Amino acid sequence: MKRAIYPGSFDPVTFGHIDMIERSAKIVDELVVAILNNSAKNPLFSVEERVSMLKETAGHVPNVKITFFDGLLIDYARNIDATIIIRGLRAVTDFEYELQIAQTNRIVNSGIDTIFLTTSLEYAYLSSTIVKEVASYGGDISHFVPKQLIPQIYEKYIR
Ligand code: PNS
Repeated sequence: MKRAIYPGSFDPVTFGHIDMIERSAKIVDELVVAILNNSAKNPLFSVEERVSMLKETAGHVPNVKITFFDGLLIDYARNIDATIIIRGLRAVTDFEYELQIAQTNRIVNSGIDTIFLTTSLEYAYLSSTIVKEVASYGGDISHFVPKQLIPQIYEKYIR
């Protein structure tokens, strides 16, 4: 069985992530979407909130599991018997960092490979950071995230 891991912060999940999940789930037998639980990154949403947002919006894909992890991705991938790490590339700017991480991970564990999918063109500009920036000014985020998440996101900026 081919198990892959799609890791990320998902703070919050966007249409770009959901597109990546739907496409990578078609390539492997099981896709584990793994949320980094790292308070040092100072996420806007708790890991429980991010799990629930992902379940709500990507739970329809039958061979997808939503989990979270602490520590090194490569260790978590080994613990769950994943042999593939999936990452999305939006533009050349993503490439340098992603290449370095993929190569580091392969040095640490050569049994786990990273596969890059290019993001769909319509989401090539999109990031969780953009969503938060627009939402923080009360802007329209309906092009970026599923509509059921919108109230939850705005709520973070109500003082
Ligand atoms: O959605 P993001 O923030 O781009 O995801 C980055 C993520 C979570 C994949 C990356 O930061 C990660 O794997 N962090 C865990 C620690 C780790 O393994 N770092 C890479 C080796 S130095």
